[in-house]
Amino acid sequence: MNVAIIGSGGRENSICFALNKSKKVNKIFCIPGNGGTENISKNLKIDINNFQEIKKVVEKNKINLLVVGPENPLVNGIVDFFHGSDVKVFGPNKAASQLEGSKIFTKNLCKKYNIPTAKFGIFQNSAETKKFITNSNFPIVIKADGLASGKGVYISENKEEAYRAVDEIFGGKFGEAQNILIEEFLVGEEMSYFIVTDGKSIKPFETAQDHKRVNEGDKGQNTGGMGAYSPSRLMNKNLESKIINKIINPTLDGLKDLGIEYKGFLYAGLMIKNGEPHLIEYNVRMGDPECQTILPKLETDLMEVLLSCCNNTLDKINIKWNEKKSLSIVLCSRGYPNEYKKNTILENIQKIKTDQYNLCYHAGTIIDNNNIIAVGGRVLNFISLADSFLEARQNIIENIKILNWQDGFYRKDIGYKVIDE
Ligand code: AMP
Ligand code: GLY
Repeated sequence: MNVAIIGSGGRENSICFALNKSKKVNKIFCIPGNGGTENISKNLKIDINNFQEIKKVVEKNKINLLVVGPENPLVNGIVDFFHGSDVKVFGPNKAASQLEGSKIFTKNLCKKYNIPTAKFGIFQNSAETKKFITNSNFPIVIKADGLASGKGVYISENKEEAYRAVDEIFGGKFGEAQNILIEEFLVGEEMSYFIVTDGKSIKPFETAQDHKRVNEGDKGQNTGGMGAYSPSRLMNKNLESKIINKIINPTLDGLKDLGIEYKGFLYAGLMIKNGEPHLIEYNVRMGDPECQTILPKLETDLMEVLLSCCNNTLDKINIKWNEKKSLSIVLCSRGYPNEYKKNTILENIQKIKTDQYNLCYHAGTIIDNNNIIAVGGRVLNFISLADSFLEARQNIIENIKILNWQDGFYRKDIGYKVIDE
C-alpha cells in the first residue's frame, strides 16, 4: 500500500520511520515532511490544510492511507472531507476532534458525565472575566478556547497577571475574540496517557512524561516539549483501570450519546494526585515528543495497528511493546521558544551513532545541497532505548556531543524524576 503522512515534525518522522519498516507499505509520502523524512520517503510541499491539493496528490500517487500527525487538519475536518472516497484516513472526524478543538466542549462533556477534571467557568467578555478573577484564589488557570498550539494557557499567580492574560486573549492573540475558560489549579504530577481506538474497542498505547518548560528543573517558558520518557513512573494497573473507567470510557460513551464515533489515537493529558487521575486536556493525536519516545518500543507493525483501526478490527490484534526504557531529548535552536537563528548547517550529523535502539528523528530541518539545515525551533529528537533511563540519557548525550552543534541547546535533565544521580 502507498501511505502519506501529514505533518513536518519529529512525530511525523517517527511515524514515517516505523511505517518504513512495514512489509505492508510500498511507497511513503510526507506532506510536507522534513529533512529526516526526505531520506526515507518522498516529501510533497503542500499546505496541510489544503484538502483539495492533498486530494490531487492522493489520486496521482495512488495513496491508500493518509496518517494525520497534527491536530489542525483533523479539527478542520480532513477525515470528513475524504469520507466515502477510496483513501482511508487514520484519525478522528471533525465532530470527534472537538475534544481538542474546543476546550469548552470537553469541559462540558466532563461535567455531564462526571469525568474528574478541574472545576471551571466559561466567560464571554473581559469585564465579566475580571470580576470573577477579583474574587478568586491564586494560582488560577486561564485558557483561550480553541487551538493555540499549547500556548493559550496561562497559570496566573496574582490578579495583575490574570488581567494581562485576559487582555491578551480577548485582544486577539490566539485569533478572533474567543471564550475564556477559567480553571482551578490542579496540584500533582502530569502524565500523558494514550489509547488507540477503532470506535468499537480501545487498546492502551503506552504512557509518557513530557518536559514542557524550556529550562532545566522545569523552569522558564512553555515549549512544544523538550524531551520525554516512557513509560511514566506513575503507571500501574490500578491507575490504568481508573483512567479507563473514570475518564476514557465515559468520554467515548458521551461522544456516542451525541452520535459521534471516535477513531484514531486519543491522548489524555492527566494530572495524577494521590493515585487519582484528573483530566487536564485531550489531544486527538499522538503527542510530540511522546510519539517519538513511544514508537521505538512498539514491536507490532504500526501499519497493522493503523489499518485495523480504519477497518474496525482493532480487537483482532495484539499490540506488543518492548520492555526497555525509552527516553528522548529535543535539540533546539538557541533562543527557542523566542527568536532563534535559522539556516545553520548541522555539519556532523553523519557522525551520529544510530542503531535499533538509538535513533535520531528530524523536526525543524530541511535538506539543501546535501546539507542538513536547521530551520525550526525544535530541530532534532534523539531517542535511546536501554535497560535504565540513566543509560538511555547517557547514550543520547554522547550523540549530541558528537554532533557538537554550536547553535543548539538541550535540557540535560530530561527524566530527572526517574533518574537518581
Ligand atoms: P493544556 O494545553 O490545557 O494541556 O495546558 C498546558 C499545560 O498547562 C498543562 O500541560 C499543565 O502543565 C498546565 N495546566 C493546564 N491546566 C491546568 C490546571 N487546571 N491545573 C494545573 N495545571 C494546568
Ligand atoms: N507533548 C505535548 C503535545 O504534543 O501536545
